[in-house]
Amino acid sequence: MKRIVISTGGGDAPGLNAVIYAVVRAAESRDWEVYGSKSGYRGLLDPDELVRLTAEEVKDITPTGGTILGSTNKGNPFAMPVENLAGEIQIRDVSDRVMKNFERMGFFCHIAVGGDGSLEIAHRFAEKKGMPVIGVPKTIDNDLEATQLTFGFDTAVSTATEALDKLHSTAKSHDRVMVVEVMGREAGWIALNSGISGGADIILLPEIPFEIKGICDKIAENELHGKHYAIVVVAEGAKGKDNTVICKGNDKKEVGRHEVLLGGIGEWVADKIRTCAGKDTRSLVLGHLQRGGSPTTFDRLLALRFGAAAVRLAEEGTFDHMVALEGTSMTAVPLARAIEKRKQVPLDCDKMKTAREIGICLGDIPESGEK
Ligand code: F6P
Repeated sequence: MKRIVISTGGGDAPGLNAVIYAVVRAAESRDWEVYGSKSGYRGLLDPDELVRLTAEEVKDITPTGGTILGSTNKGNPFAMPVENLAGEIQIRDVSDRVMKNFERMGFFCHIAVGGDGSLEIAHRFAEKKGMPVIGVPKTIDNDLEATQLTFGFDTAVSTATEALDKLHSTAKSHDRVMVVEVMGREAGWIALNSGISGGADIILLPEIPFEIKGICDKIAENELHGKHYAIVVVAEGAKGKDNTVICKGNDKKEVGRHEVLLGGIGEWVADKIRTCAGKDTRSLVLGHLQRGGSPTTFDRLLALRFGAAAVRLAEEGTFDHMVALEGTSMTAVPLARAIEKRKQVPLDCDKMKTAREIGICLGDIPESGEK
């Protein structure tokens, strides 16, 4: 009997359990056995952390958030923090141990569900160790270039939009500016989609360096038109003209430093608005709320399709590839291409145009004549 193993790595995203469900059901329909590796590669490092997954085991998990397998963004077997006898943490390459266990368990395929970090590790296993790997793209940030969409994104946008809808009434009651920081790393997809849908006045994105003057001009324009409140959506990776992002602890770092933990730009922008526009301003960070909860119908369906498509690729023997959405179809792209580049919002895309045309300020000061 054929055996496969599935793991979920990196930050969790709504829809992970739907992928697991589809993989288990599609594999069982082919008479294959499925095992889950807990917390990324932990189960492949220690077989006690491998769990047998059957249809019974996964029967109600599709609508649930999180991942039944657990996840980690600190579990790279090529550079694993390990405590030595003296209690010191050392970085070790334990990838051979993973391969040994993979072979000992008789797996013929590893389905790795993850974002760019996890997919990079999966590709390394395929390339350097010959592991037959198939990737499934997951991230609320939607920043993977090789797939039109990742699952988790739609749920995150819905959560952020719902929050914006709720903020309008309190902002209006108090004539306040409300600044809402959303996730997305160096991509503005969550900010732009939720900002347009949730009626934001101003959206600040990593793709467009903002100017405080541009923001304050928009708030002043609102006032002129009798609107005494404003909603500002700020992507956590938004940056000013000096090309720095704000990191946890309010440090400023140069952009492009993927390892930094972003956060704090919302409060920073709120402070500037308070001083420069003289408006009563509050800020809030939506944070991990965007990663929680039940996946939307769209994300469930996409995740289920990805899971089933991954099993099809395993059957064909198309390894070192990632399943991807292209138009209405599932395709396979080489993992090497999938991890090559991260996807930002194109400046000339329809959503950017729509935002400007319906009067949303994107933080820049458009040239005169430009909308
Ligand atoms: O990549 C998903 C994401 O939620 C980002 O939007 C965010 O910057 C990061 O993960 C937060 O990571 P952590 O779970 O380590 O706080």
